[in-house]
Amino acid sequence: MQHEPRIAASILAADFSCLGEEVRAISGAGADWLHVDVMDGHFVPNLTVGAGVVAALRPHDALPFDVHLMVSPVDPLIEPFAEAGADSITVHAEAGAHLHRTLQRIRRCDKRAGVALNPATPADAVEPVLGEIDLVLAMTVNPGFGGQKFIESQLGKIAALRALIDASGRAIDLSVDGGIDESTAGLAASAGADVLVAGSASFAGSRAEYPGNIARLRAAAEAGRSAALGERSGPRAVGASAS
Ligand code: DX5
Ligand code: ZN
Repeated sequence: MQHEPRIAASILAADFSCLGEEVRAISGAGADWLHVDVMDGHFVPNLTVGAGVVAALRPHDALPFDVHLMVSPVDPLIEPFAEAGADSITVHAEAGAHLHRTLQRIRRCDKRAGVALNPATPADAVEPVLGEIDLVLAMTVNPGFGGQKFIESQLGKIAALRALIDASGRAIDLSVDGGIDESTAGLAASAGADVLVAGSASFAGSRAEYPGNIARLRAAAEAGRSAALGERSGPRAVGASAS
């Protein structure tokens, strides 16, 4: 079931010279989750932060920390990020040969486990591990950098993932990451996403602008979700409410 949209603000677009203040500001602005992009310069062509930064940020806010590991090999980093204070840990399906084992390792740490899919990876890749996960992260850019353009051809895959999750009957969040702004948030939500990861659009402008940024993203996502739910339930729901 598609839930009310949540906004996961990616710190990749924050001011790294004062991350603690940025985290408090975006949390106060209404973000639901803090998305932490971890890049290794190997799986993706960029380097960002390690578990030490998550541990340093943890005391600054109680927001759920949604850690996105763009790292290979990833297994040795599961426990360090769990101990640092991650609430969910998402790994890429493409990052290793033993995805199922990696997900079990995350769950053994009592953390929510997620699988991220690059744009070229089909929705079906998550089907064999639906019983091991709490979150699917559909990439709508090729991972490695913020500020890229949303790849619209991924909308069909988001809809396919929504159908897979709903058919499983499991409580799995469907998150979309990359190029999310006011217009693409609505597209992603109408395709079935219930978590929107936004870096550039969350941290745009001065801190005084953050609440407006988050509110506009949420409104756009809510409008997209309402439209989609209306379409999916369609005439049957109209008939039911009339009787
Ligand atoms: C890209 C990261 C994204 C990125 C999104 O590899 O996974 O989370 O921060 O940034 P925007 O919202 O600027 O596309
Ligand atoms: Zn990310």
